[in-house]
Amino acid sequence: MEIKLPEPVLEGEMSVEEALARRKSRRCYRADPLTLKEVSQLLWAGQGAVKGGRRTAPSAGATYPMELYLVVREMGVEKLVPGIYRYNPESHTLTLIERGDFSEYLYRAALEQSWVLEAPVNIVLVAYPPRTVTRYGNRGYRYIYMEAGHVSQNIYLQAEALDLATVAVGAFYDEDVRGLLRLPKGYMILYIHPVGRRCRGD
Ligand SMILES: Cc1cc2nc3c(=O)[nH]c(=O)nc-3n(C[C@H](O)[C@H](O)[C@H](O)COP(=O)(O)O)c2cc1C
Repeated sequence: MEIKLPEPVLEGEMSVEEALARRKSRRCYRADPLTLKEVSQLLWAGQGAVKGGRRTAPSAGATYPMELYLVVREMGVEKLVPGIYRYNPESHTLTLIERGDFSEYLYRAALEQSWVLEAPVNIVLVAYPPRTVTRYGNRGYRYIYMEAGHVSQNIYLQAEALDLATVAVGAFYDEDVRGLLRLPKGYMILYIHPVGRRCRGD
């Protein structure tokens, strides 16, 4: 099933400087759902298509190994059933991979970090290395780690600009997350980004 996402907004209300100054890792989320518009904006910031066949984050040799998955909990996002989704940058759509609330499973896979369980959504950054390694050999792996940092920072800054909260989570069991996303062995899992509405005073 394909879900068309709302068009990303290209002019926001917060400057890049302000988002940078405010950025921090936020691990407390309110239970309220995110809107599809907010989710659309976060995914676009992380890996959206922009002019000239490029993406919002740089990629070595424009090989684009990064993919984003979304794990939505029950009542996590307005107008989305809970489940696992893949983001398709070119069409700015989501593909439903599997229906169901898998937040408890992801939380266990992420060493029981409570923010993973409590977030209405978790964005999972994944890479398919052959896209980069066939061009650059083993150095391609280094590039993939660098690219994960670019994508993650974009998500941090977009979350700030939308008054949302997020944290980059690098501690998890690779095999468990790969299995959850129904990905074959070649895929690398790089980050989990829980996102939610900020707790008061955070
Ligand atoms: C590679 C990497 C892995 C991280 N893994 C985790 C993690 O598993 N859990 C977590 O809560 N925070 C994680 N963080 C967030 C850091 O703890 C956080 O960036 C750091 O404490 C500095 O705080 P700040 O982001 O608010 O500036 C990670 C950050 C990076 C860059």
